[in-house]
Amino acid sequence: MKRSTIGVFDSGVGGLTVLKALLELIPGADYIYFGDTARLPYGSKSAETVAHYAVGAVHFLQEHDAELLVIACNTATALALDKIKLAAHVDVVGVVEPGAQAAAAASRRGKVAVIGTEATIASHAYRRALEARGVEVLEKACPLLVPLVEEGWVDHPVTEQVARIYLDEVFSGEFADADALVLGCTHYPLLKPVLARLAPPHVVIVDSAESTARVVAASAVAQSGGAGEQTLHFFATDSVEKFRRLGERFLGRAIQDVQHVDLKE
Ligand code: DGL
Repeated sequence: MKRSTIGVFDSGVGGLTVLKALLELIPGADYIYFGDTARLPYGSKSAETVAHYAVGAVHFLQEHDAELLVIACNTATALALDKIKLAAHVDVVGVVEPGAQAAAAASRRGKVAVIGTEATIASHAYRRALEARGVEVLEKACPLLVPLVEEGWVDHPVTEQVARIYLDEVFSGEFADADALVLGCTHYPLLKPVLARLAPPHVVIVDSAESTARVVAASAVAQSGGAGEQTLHFFATDSVEKFRRLGERFLGRAIQDVQHVDLKE
C-alpha cells in the first residue's frame, strides 16, 4: 500500500515541534515540511499578510502531493485558518482547536491560561475556542520567548527571568487558580521544563503540538500507513544551512534533505 503524505506548514523551524509529535504518533506516513524562514516572524504581522503567505505555502504543499495539511504555526492557524481551508482541496488541521480541546479536558476548574505571540493572542482564536467549551480564559502575549528559544537559550537565566515575569502576570489576581496553561506557540514546547518549574504546582501544561498530533493520528490519511522507507522532505524560503542547524534542536534529530524554495509573490 502507498504511504500517505502529510504536509506541515510553519513560519519557520518552530513547527518542527509539531512534526516531532507527528513522527512519534504516526511513523507510517511520509512528510513534507515547509518553513517560511525568509518571512518569519509571523507573530508580529497582520492577518492579511499572514493569510497571503500561508495560502502560497498551502499551494506549494499541495503541488507536492500533500494529502492532509497540518498548520503547525499557531499564528497562521489563529489568523488565517478559514482562508487556508478555502484555498485547500485536502483536509486541513490547525493547532488551535486541538489545543483548546485538550485544555478544556485538562482543566478541572474550567479556568485556562493561554500564552502565544502578539498576533495569536490579539486574534482571540484560543479564547473563542475555549469559551465555546464553557471555559474561562486569560490570554497573554509573550513576544520575547520566540527570539530567546531561537538563540538557543532554553536553559538560560535570562529566559527563566523573562518567563517568570510573564507567568507571574498570568497567575495573579483572578487567574491565580487557573489550572491549565496552553503553550500556544510552536517554540514553547522547548521551554516546557522551565515553564513547568515556574507555573504554580497545580497547573497542567497543555502542548498544542501533541494535541494536534493526536487529532491527525485519528484521521483516515494517517491510518492508511504503507510499507517502505519513510521520506522526510524539508523546504525553507531562507538559508538551508540555518534551517538545518536551528531545526535539529526543534526536531531532536538530524535534518538532511532541505531544499531552498523561492515562492513568487
Ligand atoms: N510559528 C509561530 C507560532 O507558532 C512562532 C514564530 C513566528 O512568530 O513566526 O505562533
